[in-house]
Amino acid sequence: MSRSKKVEGINHIAVFGAGTMGHGIAELCAIVGYSVTIVDVKDELLQKAVEKIGWSLKKLENKGKLKESYESVMSRIKTTTDAEDAVKNADYVIEAIVERFDIKAELFRKLDKAAKSECIFATNTSTLPISELAETTSRPDRFIGLHFFNPPTLMPLVEIIKGKETSGETLEKTKELARSLRKDFVIVNKDVPGFLVNRINLRVFMEAIRMVEWGEAEVEEVDAAAKYRLGMPMGVLEVVDFSGVDVVYYASQAMKERGFNFVQSELLEKKFKAGELGMKSGKGFYSYPGAGYFRPKIRRSKAYRISPLKLMAPATNEAAWLLRNGIATKEDIEKAMKLGMNYSKGLLEMADDFGIDRVVKVLKKRREETGYDEYEPDPLLKEMVKAGKLGKKSGEGFYQWKHEVVDFGPVRYEKRHDHAIITMRRPEKLNALNSELWTGLLRALEKAESDADVRAVIVTGEGRAFSAGDDIAEMFSWQDLADARDFFEKMALPVVEKIINFEKPIISAVNGIAFGGGMELNLLFDIVVASDEANFAVPESRIGALPPIASSLGVAVLGKPFIEWVLTGETITPEEAKELGIVNVVVPPDQLEDAAREYVDKIALSAPRSITSVRKIIAEIYGIYSPSFKVAMREILLSTQLEDFKVGMRAFLKKRRPEWRGR
Ligand code: NAI
Repeated sequence: MSRSKKVEGINHIAVFGAGTMGHGIAELCAIVGYSVTIVDVKDELLQKAVEKIGWSLKKLENKGKLKESYESVMSRIKTTTDAEDAVKNADYVIEAIVERFDIKAELFRKLDKAAKSECIFATNTSTLPISELAETTSRPDRFIGLHFFNPPTLMPLVEIIKGKETSGETLEKTKELARSLRKDFVIVNKDVPGFLVNRINLRVFMEAIRMVEWGEAEVEEVDAAAKYRLGMPMGVLEVVDFSGVDVVYYASQAMKERGFNFVQSELLEKKFKAGELGMKSGKGFYSYPGAGYFRPKIRRSKAYRISPLKLMAPATNEAAWLLRNGIATKEDIEKAMKLGMNYSKGLLEMADDFGIDRVVKVLKKRREETGYDEYEPDPLLKEMVKAGKLGKKSGEGFYQWKHEVVDFGPVRYEKRHDHAIITMRRPEKLNALNSELWTGLLRALEKAESDADVRAVIVTGEGRAFSAGDDIAEMFSWQDLADARDFFEKMALPVVEKIINFEKPIISAVNGIAFGGGMELNLLFDIVVASDEANFAVPESRIGALPPIASSLGVAVLGKPFIEWVLTGETITPEEAKELGIVNVVVPPDQLEDAAREYVDKIALSAPRSITSVRKIIAEIYGIYSPSFKVAMREILLSTQLEDFKVGMRAFLKKRRPEWRGR
């Protein structure tokens, strides 16, 4: 940190309250160059605050983060217990005393008389009404909310809250002050309970707590979804424990008392009353050995029990309310959650990812289940759905997105801003791979490859199946070897080669059965996300053919247990397919699309060129095994000319077991 320009007309700042927030705010102001007076009710509290500031400044100095000496920063800090005296020369007051309206009001009344008329009063309150506090003074136009986050020296964001009568000038000066303190800020146009960050946070906290309270998920499962799928730096309940169960409880009660529409969680209340206050008490939602700093273990494997959409839907609803009522702008809502809570993505962008229609559906369902009207979808969300503004999938939601839909025969190509979804659409034939489907796949992949916006591709199937494999009816119509050769070499092979040499990652979202060729494509895709309703099999040998990719590249990459599976042609569950190394993750069907897209988000964090290089190397590895694949292709062509193939086909189409020659 270095000194940055002070705001014109602000030289002296009086900070009231030397506690957790006050001492940090005072330190921040002094570092920037303001002369600061800290006020508290007892000298020993002030002394403690100065010690803490000194310790922190020394640390900054040792790290080379202080542009001047520790002593010169300290020389700008004074302390007193005399409130009136402290405020006499102050140009700006930041109040950070106990969160009690009566005590704050009394202080402000006193300060109002002693302070210069142009001095601005800012309160750091988290829950109290700014306008009502302002009314206790003769300067409601020079009164404002300036809400820091803990610790004020480190957190990059402040909320600036306008009271009913806050003047434009006071707002501008406060913005300038925030800038000079090197803080980014969001403007909250009305002092609604919880302002912006805490309103949204409380919705997320409550949903997480309720999921646990109502037996829908374990604590770790909620937090794993938040951490590993939504990219949050900490689990939601981990944050509650870290902040303090009491802090969240008190804040939520205070907000409720001021009209925030929510039903208190019995579990939160129970924990609060039992003294399970989180990290500081040794137990909250997690246990903390020695009641000290400790990061609970949150396993990635637990991340797919709950839907991130469900976790975030109430927060999206809250954001819609804030937007519709003109309390905060879209940009500030996103900034608040990214800077205030370290979200990897803005809340409204997340909603556009999920689809606004799905957000509304989840809220309606929750409303029905609980009877809580806090879940009633905001009119803004309902209007968006009506207007077809569904998010990335329609090209517009809270934002505009690049969107394109092209049909290549039975294959749909859909560009969703930074990725493409390729859908096989012969649901009535379980997406069996006939010539048209192979050709469609090739065209769609070519389109995805040539579009620089597309960072990754998701392949999925419409209806009950991912793909039942090569189209047996079409195969049965072959007259001779040339027909079989045409199919494999001109239709299937170009797609296989395209996938192997594809420059971008391909993720499959396996929605249902993936058999034969439909299964084998998954061996070539980089990441396979499977619905727990999917099934996998390569039963080609059971119709007198063989699985060419599985028996060559598949065996080479996946090894011995895989050989057994290829030889038996048995149908396996997605969990078994995961054990074999075919599937990366198994998810409930309603999370399939989200889980696949989350991989796109993660991949999009990497440089496109690096990803292309990795893809190139993977293609080279497959290349090592290409002689075995060539043998497989020769064998499959040959098999189509043998009696077993005809026997197998006939039996398959008649749905009976084939009688092989020589039996
Ligand atoms: P704290 O309890 O650590 O400190 C409050 C200090 O104010 C105490 O040292 C107390 O002796 C002093 N005090 C009480 N009455 C006073 C008076 N009349 N004059 C001068 N000093 C007085 O509280 P904390 O956590 O620092 O919170 C202070 C304010 O900041 C509250 O309004 C709170 O809602 C808000 N806030 C707290 C955050 C947090 O994470 N702790 C975050 C953002 C805002």
